[in-house]
Amino acid sequence: MLCLENVAKIYRTRTGEVKALDGISLRIKEGEFAVLRGPSGSGKTTLLMTVAGMQHPTGGKVSVAQNNLYAMSAQARAKFRAANIGFVFQMFHLIPYLNVVENIVLASGAAVDKNKKVRAAELIQQFGLTGRNLHKPAQLSAGEKQRVAIARALLNQPKIVLADEPTGNLDPDNAAVVVRCLSDFHRSGGTVIFATHGAEAEGFADRIIHLRNGHIDQS
Ligand SMILES: Nc1ncnc2c1ncn2[C@@H]1O[C@H](COP(=O)(O)OP(=O)(O)O)[C@@H](O)[C@H]1O
Ligand SMILES: [Mg+2]
Repeated sequence: MLCLENVAKIYRTRTGEVKALDGISLRIKEGEFAVLRGPSGSGKTTLLMTVAGMQHPTGGKVSVAQNNLYAMSAQARAKFRAANIGFVFQMFHLIPYLNVVENIVLASGAAVDKNKKVRAAELIQQFGLTGRNLHKPAQLSAGEKQRVAIARALLNQPKIVLADEPTGNLDPDNAAVVVRCLSDFHRSGGTVIFATHGAEAEGFADRIIHLRNGHIDQS
């Protein structure tokens, strides 16, 4: 599903260079739930952004479902991402002036049609958000916000979901619910990469990849 070959990312800043990814080679199979575990600064966000097609690597090759992501035009890559990749952020990144349904459906990038609304209603029910349809993000708990964000990521039925510390701002109970939502997607055949510095998802993982200073720690 996912293949990284010697992927490198160097950030060039005014004060010098930061080597965020230092030659990552990795394969993730279709239907795998992989935990990407590493301390802050180890390169987790950079790796997920690179896999999502949102950040050009400095070197190496990234393929998703046999498509060489960075050989595509920016437009083709954006289209590919919308169709195949869902992203969940630590800080939720919901749009404050839109309600739950609108937040879920808007991410599709296409006009809101009946099918999208039906799919959103299914996800709202699946994630225990019934009755919250018309709430704005400010009227939701942190756990509910993240479930809305997961529903948004799943709206287009992506093949792969990339979650970047999705439980980082949640208490343990809500964290467990969010892990279970992602695990449900995995059990329905989806591929998940779950980046974290903690152990909350390890019981659900097929595999744990340890990241340290921009490379995979084999020890
Ligand atoms: N836009 C950026 N410009 C410069 N350095 C960055 C940028 N983003 C991240 N970094 C640096 O790259 C390294 C990896 O960061 P990141 O991928 O955010 O790690 P993590 O998500 O594991 O905390 C860190 O040293 C961080 O300071
Ligand atoms: Mg990060």
